[in-house]
Amino acid sequence: MTPTDPRRPWGFDTAQIHAGARPDPSTGARATPIYATSSFQFESAEQAADLFALNDLEHHTYTRLSNPTTAVAEERIAFLEGGASAVAVSSGQAANTLALLNLLRSGDHLVSSSHIYGGSSNLFARRFSELGISTTFIDDIDDFASWRRAIQPNTRAVFAESVGNPLGSVLDIATVAGIAHAAGVPLVIDNTLATPYLLQPLRHGADIVTHSTTKFLSGHGTAIGGIIVDGATFDFGAEPDKWPGFTFPDLPHEAQGYWARFSPQKLAYALRLRTTVLRDYGPAPSPFNSFLLLQGLETLSLRVRQHVTNAQRVADFLHAHPQVAAVHYATHPHSRWARRAAELLPRGAGAIVSFEIRGGGAAGQLFAESLRLFSHLANIGDVRSLVIHPASTTHAQLSPDVQRRGGITPGLIRLSVGLEDPEDLIADLEFAFAAVQHLPLTQTA
Ligand SMILES: Cc1ncc(COP(=O)(O)O)c(C=O)c1O
Repeated sequence: MTPTDPRRPWGFDTAQIHAGARPDPSTGARATPIYATSSFQFESAEQAADLFALNDLEHHTYTRLSNPTTAVAEERIAFLEGGASAVAVSSGQAANTLALLNLLRSGDHLVSSSHIYGGSSNLFARRFSELGISTTFIDDIDDFASWRRAIQPNTRAVFAESVGNPLGSVLDIATVAGIAHAAGVPLVIDNTLATPYLLQPLRHGADIVTHSTTKFLSGHGTAIGGIIVDGATFDFGAEPDKWPGFTFPDLPHEAQGYWARFSPQKLAYALRLRTTVLRDYGPAPSPFNSFLLLQGLETLSLRVRQHVTNAQRVADFLHAHPQVAAVHYATHPHSRWARRAAELLPRGAGAIVSFEIRGGGAAGQLFAESLRLFSHLANIGDVRSLVIHPASTTHAQLSPDVQRRGGITPGLIRLSVGLEDPEDLIADLEFAFAAVQHLPLTQTA
């Protein structure tokens, strides 16, 4: 467990540096070393058997299941999110896949917001449906009657992004959590865009939180990764027949399921995730990437504060620009989500600013390739500013109808505002607007 100071609880800035870390017991190394080893030697045959039987949860066996470098990142992010424990995986995509496959099996049903990353929409609509898991998408995240109506007897999870990619929509987490809980299912929240510095979904009623650590948590754009944090708030024992993966033994010769055995330590969901779903599907993080993640985490709040300042400047500039039809940034006074953002995101709405350029798809694509300081690429959350045209890239695999339902219009442009001087960013945007100014207005944005 994280050695917090009993004299005084840590603030966020302290925890992002210290939570989960301790000097290396064998060398005294103060920074967390990279434990570049696939396996860990057993002290005895008895210890080996105990590790495989999950009687020993302290030591490591094999880096596909756990690793000391990765464990520090897990403990730190669980602490920052206010969770009970966390499991790191190899990508944000793996985080959402495994978080949900720990709850869903063939024949089950998922309710999901449509205001989500295109890769998550694809995962649910295509891959999950191939596995026999169906999904109902909610287009208007504020239409709570439609969330309620979407629940079916076989629904086993509700999923949404706290701040949606790319439109920056802000979910009423407490209300959607209430709907999920009334139906006896957990709420899983992808908190990638907000980060725990801006919003902690578990404190608003979510049960499980996921991240693409590729983005703001790392911040340097060098390592793909993901993590699942469990709040240990959902009671899988309340309706035992509904959750056979937790309430029945995984193997016929075992006496108990994960719920009976590990819920007293608040480890049932996370340990099942690690020792069945991660073990069997296998997307483990590399300890080197966990080390890179730790370097980023140490400065998370400082970076996010500057991201927010710069993003607000860019949103104001865009709002006043004649070639812009609409700006999507939740704390902007004209945003549909401004009131909720003021309540849930008092430190700001993050770095993602999306807007609709007049001139439709052609203008959007030309604008993205005309920027010089903003890198034209598929990522967010880097210290560098980034740009993409979602309709022709991240969301291109979705049908035009699904794109429209998720608010992905042809002229939509997504910016991930970095940490450069805001004046330089605004000058770059001005050059790109000039480049598309004379394009014929073939489509309206
Ligand atoms: C909100 C969100 N969730 C999940 C992912 C997937 O993460 P990764 O690219 O690390 O697999 C992304 C990637 O853009 C994302 O934006």
